Amino acid sequence: MKHENPDYLLHIGTPSVEDYRRLREVSGLSPKSQHAAEKGLPNTIFAATIIYHAETVAMGRIVGDDGCFYQIVDIAVDPAHQGKGLGKIVVASLVDFVQAEAPDGAYVSLIADGPARYLYAKFGFEPVSPESIGMALRIQRS
Ligand SMILES: CC(C)(COP(=O)(O)OP(=O)(O)OC[C@H]1O[C@@H](n2cnc3c(N)ncnc32)[C@H](O)[C@@H]1OP(=O)(O)O)[C@@H](O)C(=O)NCCC(=O)NCCS
Repeated sequence: MKHENPDYLLHIGTPSVEDYRRLREVSGLSPKSQHAAEKGLPNTIFAATIIYHAETVAMGRIVGDDGCFYQIVDIAVDPAHQGKGLGKIVVASLVDFVQAEAPDGAYVSLIADGPARYLYAKFGFEPVSPESIGMALRIQRS
């Protein structure tokens, strides 16, 4: 999937630690430390970014065991570039990857924040509630 504006370039690959931390922050996602990003990003299964005039303005990643379980994380678009279809291009690229590479029966999940659920629903993601609920544990070190 390509953007109609040729200045938006889809790039397959993991964002740099700097771009990753900046994009999470400007898009309102919880901040990640330099240490956490440096430790986690190399374990990415698949990631896509969108570059606009040499600046990374959107990203998304897949993490997991690359066989049984895949989780879509870090879907973020710089607010200055939101509402232009970039989120859709990033998610389409991640979904194309799992459709092509994940084995039969693989479970692809995500936690949808707020209206982002409408974006994921376009690609076939369905709520797991009420049979199941998403649960999370946040590690807090002082
Ligand atoms: C969610 C986010 C990634 C969407 O990116 P975006 O580039 O602005 O989204 P797009 O322009 O590609 O729009 C994607 C689709 O989502 C849907 N959508 C987005 N926001 C919506 C809203 N508030 N209500 C209903 N639908 C919405 C639209 O239907 C749109 O599809 P359409 O243009 O065919 O109608 C972006 O807003 C963002 O970074 N938000 C902050 C961080 C965040 O919440 N990330 C998701 C964590 S789960």
